[in-house]
Amino acid sequence: MQLLVIGGTSFLGRAAVVEALRRGWAVTTFNRGVSGPDIEGVEVLRGDRDDPSALGQLEGRRFDVVVDTCGFVPRVVGRSVRALAESGAHYVFVSSISATTTWPGRPTPEGLDGQPCDSDAGPDDGDYGVLKAGCERAVTEVFGERATVARAGLILGPHENVGRLPAWLRRIARGGEVLAPGDPATPMQVVDVRDLAAFLLDCGEHGTGGAFNATAPPGNTTMGDWLRDCVRVTGSDARLTWVDDDLLLAHGVEPWTELPLWMPPGQDGDHVWTADASWAAAAGLRPRPVSETVADTWAWMQSGGAPPDDPPHAHVGRHGIDPAKEATILADWRGQAPSRGPA
Ligand SMILES: NC(=O)c1ccc[n+]([C@@H]2O[C@H](COP(=O)([O-])OP(=O)(O)OC[C@H]3O[C@@H](n4cnc5c(N)ncnc54)[C@H](OP(=O)(O)O)[C@@H]3O)[C@@H](O)[C@H]2O)c1
Repeated sequence: MQLLVIGGTSFLGRAAVVEALRRGWAVTTFNRGVSGPDIEGVEVLRGDRDDPSALGQLEGRRFDVVVDTCGFVPRVVGRSVRALAESGAHYVFVSSISATTTWPGRPTPEGLDGQPCDSDAGPDDGDYGVLKAGCERAVTEVFGERATVARAGLILGPHENVGRLPAWLRRIARGGEVLAPGDPATPMQVVDVRDLAAFLLDCGEHGTGGAFNATAPPGNTTMGDWLRDCVRVTGSDARLTWVDDDLLLAHGVEPWTELPLWMPPGQDGDHVWTADASWAAAAGLRPRPVSETVADTWAWMQSGGAPPDDPPHAHVGRHGIDPAKEATILADWRGQAPSRGPA
């Protein structure tokens, strides 16, 4: 199989390259040479997808599969899709559950239309999720049934470039009393980057078209289970103290980023971890246990791996809470609920 990865040096694209090489595929990557080193064994095309002249390198080439991990602006994605229209490939576009009309806060069925957004929209025509929906249209308008739209849920694993799991692992490795957010029984839904990468390649190889919520089934871990996984793999003396959502909000804690992956329930009590992923499961997405994702991410960090200092995308904030703020909230929580010490 002849694979083109637009991207291919960072997190998901990198994992797709590694998996494709493991399968014996011939791999070409197209990127600017900014985010990370090229992986040995690939053909490297250097260029910026924002630059129409750079896409000339793709025209006239034949590929079996294109995996596009770094499309954020419909107009820009449209240009690469048109450059590859005659390539013969199946085009796998990595979108996000944010592209749907329900996320966050409401359950997200499979097969929803994306949010309204034109396929030639520019960078200022919407937020991340809206623009992802426009990118999806830019791909499907040209590739039709030869397009897979993989609406990724939360992705974790080695080489994470956002810093969510690394922020928790670093904090927990420091030990002591750790502020743990909300309800430990909250079901979560986390997909390992390597399992998602394998799914992208499978869709491309088998020509599986359509839009999928590309994530694990709801409840493949809980907030309590995966934070306890973090304690276990780091071997630290951390003690998790669970603090109610209301107190965290009263202290102005920023959901999702300051305490990564913490999101209080929406108005109807629904939360962000309710995407129906049954189509992806039927199409072959096989998520490994989250404990393995946590352990392998810690092993990567122990060998010197770290997310970049600056988040990879403008819509992604910095992750982690200031230690002084954490201590203040824990003291406040003890004052309010003296019977609820560390557990
Ligand atoms: N992380 C999550 O939990 C999550 C959840 C839902 C959806 N997603 C989606 O999953 C994807 C994440 O993919 P990722 O982390 O592997 O990659 P990414 O951070 O989106 O993209 C990085 C890769 O694309 C290349 N790249 C970036 N801008 C480029 C440009 N203008 N021209 C050419 N190449 C460019 C980078 O290389 P150079 O910088 O060297 O060019 C690098 O190889 C994204 O589409 C994201 O929206 C992520």
